[in-house]
Order: sequence, then structure tokens, then C-alpha cells
Amino acid sequence: MKNILPLAYFKDHIKIVDQTKLPLELKYVSCRNERDVSDAIKKMKIRGAPAIGIAGAFGLYLGIRNFKSTDKDRFIKRTVEVAEYLAESRPTAVNLSWALEELKKKVLHNYRRSIGELKDIAYKEAVHIMQDDQKRCRLMGAFGAKLIKNKDVCLTICNAGGMATSGYGTALGVFFKAKEDGRKFEVFACETRPLLQGARITSWELMQKKIKTTLICDSMAASLIKRGIIKKIFVGADRITLSGDFANKIGTYNLAVLAKFHNIPFYVVAPLSTFDKNLKSGKDIPIEFRNKDEITSLYFKKRIAPPGVRVVNPAFDVSDAKLVSAFVTEKGLIKPPYKINIRKIIHAQ
Ligand code: MRU
Repeated sequence: MKNILPLAYFKDHIKIVDQTKLPLELKYVSCRNERDVSDAIKKMKIRGAPAIGIAGAFGLYLGIRNFKSTDKDRFIKRTVEVAEYLAESRPTAVNLSWALEELKKKVLHNYRRSIGELKDIAYKEAVHIMQDDQKRCRLMGAFGAKLIKNKDVCLTICNAGGMATSGYGTALGVFFKAKEDGRKFEVFACETRPLLQGARITSWELMQKKIKTTLICDSMAASLIKRGIIKKIFVGADRITLSGDFANKIGTYNLAVLAKFHNIPFYVVAPLSTFDKNLKSGKDIPIEFRNKDEITSLYFKKRIAPPGVRVVNPAFDVSDAKLVSAFVTEKGLIKPPYKINIRKIIHAQ
């Protein structure tokens, strides 16, 4: 089956796979300006840290594309405003603000060029961010696949696959490469309540690649690990601090603690664009709280909780660096001591 990319770009719009409909429907939505892109990110039609970074970059380009005046300062002001607007779409994954910053920097550094040329530069930078992520994912896959041995049973949560990136994935990219290399292993996917990215997207992506896949409810992970069934855990990340504390989908911290308690390796697979050079500790990571409807009904369809019940719905949690066996990046593995080794890799860029 042909690899489906989460996003296709054109000069006047982007087309994204509406991931809320997967896997039963493969429906595309078009975004023609920054408002469409922000809405798609907020509603999680496109999701996953690198993918929202890529969408954000195209959103910024689309937001300045129709700028009509010849006033350069106003054009720059508009660029900054659109970037700020898009950055607010989702707060936790740093890849979004990182990509917007990269694109904005490119425009500001080329200030002397004409407005038409600056629009072109913005478009090329968005394309570059997407193509660069494709290369980074392949490299992470190659480094990470070496950690998978024949007969391994791995566990993952949420979706850190093609749909969450430029088309290949971070944590799932590791499984894809191990499969391409002929390794015999299997993967358990946590369903990932409340929005079921694991049940809907991860199991779909793994099965497309003919990887032996077993879907479980999130609450089943502990007992499977205790029974010795799970040998290794691979997850993605939305933001990694300089200390190695990191945010990922809610439920990841449970798995990290379980891995430590039961002495199994716990790997975090993420590109350097997920490392936040400005944050020293996980305490400073902004966590997105989402609408209570995601919890009070089953995937927006069947109401299950009594009306008026109090609900809290954090979309991400933060795991401590000491729970991580290694970070798998496009530059190779980062091992403890993280406070030293993360800075080394980031500064070598
Ligand atoms: O809320 P989501 O679906 O955007 O959350 C996604 C995750 O938590 C992923 O694990 C993370 O973004 C890494 S994706 C390569």
C-alpha cells in the first residue's frame, strides 16, 4: 500500500488528511489561510508534534501570501502577528513554535528582498521543514531499529507515526525500519484515551506495514508488563527540556514509571526540533487542557457520564529524565547524564 502523507502542499493551499476520521474514512480537508490551519490544528485534524510544526509553517506562508500592500514594515508586522496567532493553536509541542520561528527568521534575515521574494522564501522554507523532517525520521528509524531484537515485544502509546510527522514517524519509524531490516518482533499499541490515537491511527499504520500488532486499553499495560510480556517501550515526545524531562501524550508517565519499576528499557524517539533550548525543567512545560466532551462521551458519539460531572482533561503529561533509558534522535542516541549530553548534541548542530 502506498504511504499516505498527512499533508500535501500547493502554492495556494494545503490539503491535510482529517485524522479525526481515521481509519474508517480517508478524508482530506483544504486549508487556504492561517485561520483554516489553526482550526485544523486545534480540532486535531492534523496532530502529532512534527506534523503540527509542518502545518504551522505552511499556515504562516498562507497567512502572508495574500498580503497586498507594498509596505515592507507592515509585511513584517503581519508575518510576526500570523506566527504568534498560529503558535497559540496548541501549546505543548514545541515543534510548532520552533517551525514558526525558523520561517520567521528566514523572512527577517532576507528583509532587503521584495515582498514577492519574501513570500517565495517563506514557501520554500515550509517545504524545506517538511522535507527535512522526512530525512530526520529516516535517521531516527535507523538508529532506533538497532535497539530491536528478534522476538522483542514492544509497547507504544498515542501515535508517533507517519501521520504525526512528515510521513514516516519517530517511535513508529523505529518499528518500520526494524521491519524493513527483516527483524521479527511485535508491537502492542495502547488505545490512548480519550481521543484513541493508538486504536485508530497507530494500529492502522502498523498493520499497513504488516507488523504484528495487538491493541490494548491503556489500563492493561501494567499487568502485561508485570507478566513479562512487554520487553521494551518506545514513545514519541512533544517537548524535551535541557534536563531530559519530557512531555508526551497523557499516560506516557504511567508507562515510564512502570518501565523503571519492572526494569525494562524505555526509549523516547524525537528529532532535535522537539528539544526546547529555553526550558531547563519539565515543570515549565505548558500542558494543554482540552474540552470535557472528549471524556464524557466515547469519541464524541455516545454520552457515557452523567450531565454536570466535573472533568479534567490534560492532553499531555511530563515524565522525569531519570525514567528514560535513552533518547533516539537523528544524530544518534543520547544517554545519561542528560544535563550534559543533551546540551552537547544541541550545540553541535
Ligand atoms: O495530542 P496529539 O495526538 O497531538 O499527541 C501526539 C503525541 O503525544 C505524540 O506522541 C507526539 O506528538 C510525538 S509524534 C511524533
